[in-house]
Amino acid sequence: MSFYEDKIFPYALDIALAGIQQARVDLVSSAKGRVLEIGMGNGANLPHYSAEADEVVGIEPCSAMVGMAENKLDKLDKKSKLNIKREQYNLQVGSGEDLPYEDNSFDSAIACLVFCTIPNAEKAAAEMYRVLKPGGSVLFLEHVHAKSGVKRRMQNWINPIWKPLACGCNLNRDTKAVFSNAGFDYETIEEINHHPRMLPLFSSVMRGVAKKA
Ligand SMILES: C[S@@+](CC[C@H](N)C(=O)[O-])C[C@H]1O[C@@H](n2cnc3c(N)ncnc32)[C@H](O)[C@@H]1O
Repeated sequence: MSFYEDKIFPYALDIALAGIQQARVDLVSSAKGRVLEIGMGNGANLPHYSAEADEVVGIEPCSAMVGMAENKLDKLDKKSKLNIKREQYNLQVGSGEDLPYEDNSFDSAIACLVFCTIPNAEKAAAEMYRVLKPGGSVLFLEHVHAKSGVKRRMQNWINPIWKPLACGCNLNRDTKAVFSNAGFDYETIEEINHHPRMLPLFSSVMRGVAKKA
């Protein structure tokens, strides 16, 4: 990983996504049982798991981000600000495209602003499907390609410049199709064209719950 990816991008991410704090709380606080968070970055979601989560396994390829997430948990734990015990978190360096976990071993998975960035999103969705138990849920909040109009075209034009600056993030992913193609059924899906708290080019958002049958 480069100096930019390790030392600058993680802080830029916090600033860019500061407005969606409540959306993070809403997303992860309903995760139950053994939970997998894919690409947890610097751990912005981790403090918000509720006592319904028995174990939170986080996997993230950038080791500097994993270190930041571990430090965040340690600090919150010292201040007794975690809803679950520190030992119930298990963070590791690794890729969503090649999950080192057994089939049918998680109750819930969290996909938060990550399927924009995973190089092979189809493979990661198939892996997430494999490791979820039958009846297990993916709770997702993802920015996606706008459905039509000038914004959709601008996302295509700007993506080649944006992607290297944002460490691989794409403005024009069709994550709804990626989850469907992996076998998930949508239990709820809300598609928002202009999320008021996100920067315009990534303010097309889908959020909801998808299930493994
Ligand atoms: C926009 S950040 C979001 C981080 C975090 N999920 C959040 O909500 O703040 C995208 C994350 O995807 C991670 N990522 C990139 N490639 C990945 C892969 N192959 N598997 C899992 N995560 C990946 C990046 O390292 C980065 O932490």
